[in-house]
Amino acid sequence: MKDSATEIDETICQCYQVKESTIRSCIESGNLTTIEEVTEACEAGGGCHSCHILIDLFIDEHQKKSTPMETLVREHAGKVKKKGILGRFFKKFKSDAPAAK
Ligand code: FES
Repeated sequence: MKDSATEIDETICQCYQVKESTIRSCIESGNLTTIEEVTEACEAGGGCHSCHILIDLFIDEHQKKSTPMETLVREHAGKVKKKGILGRFFKKFKSDAPAAK
């Protein structure tokens, strides 16, 4: 059974063209807990590091943790060079967000 998250299987790591489903299945099958382990398993995260914030989010979800979005953004936002699909996950990176009034 697919949920809505896996129906939209976008390329998360633009550098290595790794899709969300690949990253999530690596995390699940290897019970991976660090970005480095994910990079070793499927190459995601091995380039510009822009996708580290999402890899961390997927690891968190797998471990049933709920690190606040603000913490993930604080830890990883400085590494984001390619915004790509980050807007789907984080309001901070939405390019089409209306300006605050
Ligand atoms: S987008 Fe994943 S390392 Fe560059």
